[in-house]
Amino acid sequence: MRILVIGNGSREHALGWRLSKSDHRPSLFFAPGNFGTALVGKNVAIGVSEVEALKAFALEEKIDLTLVGPEVPLVAGVVDAFREAGLVIIGPDRAGAQLEGSKAFSKEFMVKYRIPTAGYGVFTDVEAAKAALPGYALPVVIKADGLAAGKGVIIAQSYEEAEKTLSEMMLEGRFGESGHTVVLEEFLKGFEASIICLVDGETILPLETAQDYKKIFDADLGPNTGGMGSYSPSAFVDAALMADIEARVLQPTLKGLQAEGFDFRGIIFIGLMIDESCPTGLADGIKVLEYNVRFGDPETQSLMARLDSDFVDVLLALHERKLSTLQLAWTPKAAVSVVLASMGYPDDFETGVELNFPGTQTEFMPEVTAFFGGAVLKDGKAVTSGGRVVTVTAVGDTLDSARKKAYQGVEMIRFGNKYCRKDIAKF
Ligand code: AMP
Ligand code: GLY
Repeated sequence: MRILVIGNGSREHALGWRLSKSDHRPSLFFAPGNFGTALVGKNVAIGVSEVEALKAFALEEKIDLTLVGPEVPLVAGVVDAFREAGLVIIGPDRAGAQLEGSKAFSKEFMVKYRIPTAGYGVFTDVEAAKAALPGYALPVVIKADGLAAGKGVIIAQSYEEAEKTLSEMMLEGRFGESGHTVVLEEFLKGFEASIICLVDGETILPLETAQDYKKIFDADLGPNTGGMGSYSPSAFVDAALMADIEARVLQPTLKGLQAEGFDFRGIIFIGLMIDESCPTGLADGIKVLEYNVRFGDPETQSLMARLDSDFVDVLLALHERKLSTLQLAWTPKAAVSVVLASMGYPDDFETGVELNFPGTQTEFMPEVTAFFGGAVLKDGKAVTSGGRVVTVTAVGDTLDSARKKAYQGVEMIRFGNKYCRKDIAKF
């Protein structure tokens, strides 16, 4: 079997690593891939947005199955192009990908299908947006409508800051096109949970729970990033809460996907805010912050470390709309993932810095795996090429032992401008 994974992050290395352990013994290709994916397959020099080139490659190389990592090709319609050409691909069609591609679209979807979410307004005119601000209590949440690599949400603590942010987004091109339309949103309090589900159009199947850390600094300070660490299972989502999430969010979401007529055979990742102090009960405290239409990074690294099922079989069942017959197997152990970033991320940072680590194997300690992201091979050496360079993922009998092992692994990877949070999975 020949499998193509689109993307070049640590998430894609983790997906490929799990696929490489399948009994189907697949040949793996990554477009464009990175230093780590080349350890489990072959990198192909095609960018994630080059839909036509990706399709031509898949046809020519007789690819049996394609898995899409990032949102950009999904929003660009890679799934439509592949399915029209008779290729098997995991992901939503372009229409379904709008759930992540446009915050205004996803809010409308939530309202239409009665999925609980924060109160909001959509604005294309900066003066109208500023005039609406007094209707929102502080802090107020301001979101760029389009894709912004996880950075397009600003929580303004004052109306002055909110006005300045609106001008920057809507007039001065912060976040480019993505910020020309904005969503103003009521600020929600509580704890966050990421629920990542497989969807085949008939069944929505949640994976094990995982939690990520969005902020750059310890104690959740500083600006948002793509994600600085994760652990699984979540310490906060138990079976009773999961049943409420299933009834109030997952099933209505599935109904919405069906009613809209999307060909959504892919991954839906639901970001929730859960208010424990909700006066009418915890179930009423569940609200959807956002939809993503792909696996989370770095939640996926922790989930792939815990998945015991044959991942190729899982993806084939999803494509064939047979998720209802699938029983996913997970190790009861905990997983912790710590992201090593280039100092300065999510703003400016240096790249091309040499990486040193034990050997070339990804699994360099028992139950500890390095999943490379912004790292490439240059003149025979591994060097940094991005903000989030490598994720160190460990499994252990308890969350505590997994965390200790992950941080031991972190010590073993060295590069000049290495930065990581010290408080992942620490309560
Ligand atoms: P999003 O990309 O919409 O998930 O937003 C990124 C992050 O911003 C979330 O993970 C939350 O931490 C925060 N956030 C988004 N919307 C809200 C909201 N309405 N209230 C509070 N925090 C929010
Ligand atoms: N870790 C959050 C995301 O992938 O969007």
